[in-house]
Amino acid sequence: MSRLTSTNISIAKEIIGRYPRPKSALIPLLHLSQEQNGYVTTEAMSHLAELLGLTPADVYGTATFYEMFKFEPVGQYCISVCTNISCQLLGAWELLEHAEARLGVKAGSTTDDGRFTLEDVECIAACTEAPAVQVNYRYRHCVTPAAFDQLVDDLSAGRLSEEVPPHGTLARVRQRTTAGWSGTATAQQATVDAL
Ligand code: FES
Repeated sequence: MSRLTSTNISIAKEIIGRYPRPKSALIPLLHLSQEQNGYVTTEAMSHLAELLGLTPADVYGTATFYEMFKFEPVGQYCISVCTNISCQLLGAWELLEHAEARLGVKAGSTTDDGRFTLEDVECIAACTEAPAVQVNYRYRHCVTPAAFDQLVDDLSAGRLSEEVPPHGTLARVRQRTTAGWSGTATAQQATVDAL
């Protein structure tokens, strides 16, 4: 499913109503779309353009500026290993190699079970805690190979389900509306609101 569901259209309209100009609601609506589908599809961008009085190119141009929007399916957990200079000096390349071996995929790929996507990313602003990793944008600092293994074990066993919601759920842009929320991450709402 790519276009917003009827429930999410109601939510979208309510969000749009909060802004003087409809196009100002684009980022929240991109998040809403990503939460519903797991990533931002081409059809979804066209639908958002319709709702906001924009062109699909306008939506695409904005969406692709932001790293957190994905345009193809990603895993439930997106693990981002920083390999920029501070992290590199403290073992990030070795950590990334370890991560690839542990997950059985190259950076930029998703495990066959759809659980993990591994990314090699530029500086994530945690240089004093290098090497730094994010999982669904939640930080892990000074990550050793053993700590990475523990992270994967904990995620696989569901031990971090309260701390790390599924990819696509972002606390800072989630806003309750009278229409409620629907999407793949709805079950995590209470947890996320508490973060
Ligand atoms: S260089 Fe890795 S967080 Fe800045």
